[in-house]
Amino acid sequence: MTSSKIRAIHLDDLESVIEIEQSSFPKPWDESIFFHLALSGGRYPVDEDTVVIMNVLGNKGCVIGYIVWEEYKEDNHGHILNLAVHSEYRQQGRGQKLLSYAFSSMKSSGLETCELEVRESNHWARHLYENAGMMAVDRRVGYYDSEDAIIYAITFS
Ligand SMILES: CC(C)(COP(=O)(O)OP(=O)(O)OC[C@H]1O[C@@H](n2cnc3c(N)ncnc32)[C@H](O)[C@@H]1OP(=O)(O)O)[C@@H](O)C(=O)NCCC(=O)NCCS
Repeated sequence: MTSSKIRAIHLDDLESVIEIEQSSFPKPWDESIFFHLALSGGRYPVDEDTVVIMNVLGNKGCVIGYIVWEEYKEDNHGHILNLAVHSEYRQQGRGQKLLSYAFSSMKSSGLETCELEVRESNHWARHLYENAGMMAVDRRVGYYDSEDAIIYAITFS
């Protein structure tokens, strides 16, 4: 499956999204989060100023990667919440493609900055973020229980 289409999550995608999530993270998100995102057509309004957006890469019902982010309109700020690519499809530029897509979408929405947390030991993800122009700006001690989070940030020009 080589499709490179990025689109909003659909209910048909849930099975493959949950499979990727559970095989990618030591503490996967609860399935209900993806269910609510799919049910809202990939744009879940948290309140007046905040929306959570989820896009997937792949064909209907067969997803090979996804990205989830929040947009805070009040301070023009974005926050990447989740990014994963199926293990069989990694190291082929798909993570980069999903991240670029999210950044473009944030810029189109008028956002000026974006940040995210990543496990200190997640060198592959950190490499991806640095390649995308993000900079390590802070550390949250014990954010992942026994492991610190490194905070990456970018200001869109
Ligand atoms: C992090 C992740 C999304 C990257 O996805 P991907 O599709 O493999 O990423 P890309 O192919 O776009 O790679 C981007 C860069 O990272 C590098 N990279 C990615 N995986 C790598 C690996 N296993 N070993 C070495 N470099 C790697 C690529 O070589 C590329 O660098 P380059 O442009 O200098 O060549 C994927 O590894 C994943 O799903 N991991 C598990 C979930 C996770 O950790 N998510 C991030 C949470 S913060």
